[in-house]
Amino acid sequence: MPDSGILTAKETTMTVPSTFLDACRGKPVDHIPVWYMRQAGRYQPEYRKIRERYSLVEICQHPDLCAEVTMLPVQQLGVDAAILFSDIMIPLGAMGVDFEIREHVGPVLDAPITRAADIDHLRPFTSDALPHVFETVRILRRELTVPLIGFAGAPFTLASYLIEGKPSRSYIRTKQMMWGEPEMWRALMDKLADMVVTYAEAQVEAGAAAIQLFDSWVGSLSVRDFRTYVLPTVQSIFRRLQTTGVPLIYFGVNTGELLSAFAETGATVIGVDWRVPLAAARERVGSGIALQGNLDPVLLFAPWPVLQRETAAVLDAGMTHPGFIFNLGHGVAHHQPPVEVGTLRRLTEFVHEYTRRAGNPRARIEEAYPHG
Ligand code: CP3
Repeated sequence: MPDSGILTAKETTMTVPSTFLDACRGKPVDHIPVWYMRQAGRYQPEYRKIRERYSLVEICQHPDLCAEVTMLPVQQLGVDAAILFSDIMIPLGAMGVDFEIREHVGPVLDAPITRAADIDHLRPFTSDALPHVFETVRILRRELTVPLIGFAGAPFTLASYLIEGKPSRSYIRTKQMMWGEPEMWRALMDKLADMVVTYAEAQVEAGAAAIQLFDSWVGSLSVRDFRTYVLPTVQSIFRRLQTTGVPLIYFGVNTGELLSAFAETGATVIGVDWRVPLAAARERVGSGIALQGNLDPVLLFAPWPVLQRETAAVLDAGMTHPGFIFNLGHGVAHHQPPVEVGTLRRLTEFVHEYTRRAGNPRARIEEAYPHG
């Protein structure tokens, strides 16, 4: 430890005990750790209040406020990890991309990428860009009692917004470039991969204890196309991020058929959506990689006994192998009326209690919660 008593990011992650980090590494845990994608967001009355005064991008530009928004779900729900409040589009702004995050739509661009010159014009991302983001991470490293997950959008998912100019169902323009202009595609993937690596390294340097790569829309690809046009880029990102020493999580939606290829990415943890039974996911991924997931996020709107029963089923399947983190299969959905904070708090408590290990864990679990 340095004489100053100040821990570097690496020392922090290695010395502070954490159920979440242990589970990422497949180490024994005394309960299954929990966090939720979109655990900070519009279902929270406090968040809605802040959004009356600040846009999402403005929140990200104010480190104290952004840290507060990041910490709120930790305080309210008792989750085992925080995720930096930001958006996958934020670092693209630092590359010169003009975007807007439109409510109930998502990221929208006035000038989507259509030709090679547009890719040339993307500025390389440097670690002195976005100082407010790294300041937020430094505040969180001081304030949080649980690890902070940093994140970036993955090249395919970012490219889909850059090329389509808005959220898409079919990704026609994206696939047209991928198949028809392979050199342009490679140039774009490489440029985005460099950004992801630099941005993620800087987040770890500032105090992030894990990195999640969101490839939300990669499930739109066939396995053949994933292997040809995306896998090498993701492998290169994770290879370069190995030196950070933090767990690396790879997540996408609708990726059931891609999971065996996901196992070749070099990820420490693979996120699984709710469509795939965890037993099948485990078979496809093999052992030695942790899984994260995979409750249907819409179950948060179901009656409590149903939510509890389905959560227990996910936990039973997840706990058969070391290395499991409970999460939703995608983010907390926004709907009117919204999910209640109390529901997520109760769910977190249930996961902890149901999986707490002492003596013979399975026997205790079955005894306390007989089901099925
Ligand atoms: O708590 C957290 O999970 C951290 C914050 C976070 C946000 N976006 C905040 C946000 C994270 C990790 C993201 C990543 C992100 N952004 C992804 C990958 C994860 C996923 O959901 O698949 C994607 C695809 C985006 C792009 C994006 N940004 C979309 C599709 C939307 C929703 C648009 C809408 O209004 O329905 C956004 C906006 C956004 N990002 C919100 C939040 C909390 C919505 C609320 C708001 O505008 O305040």
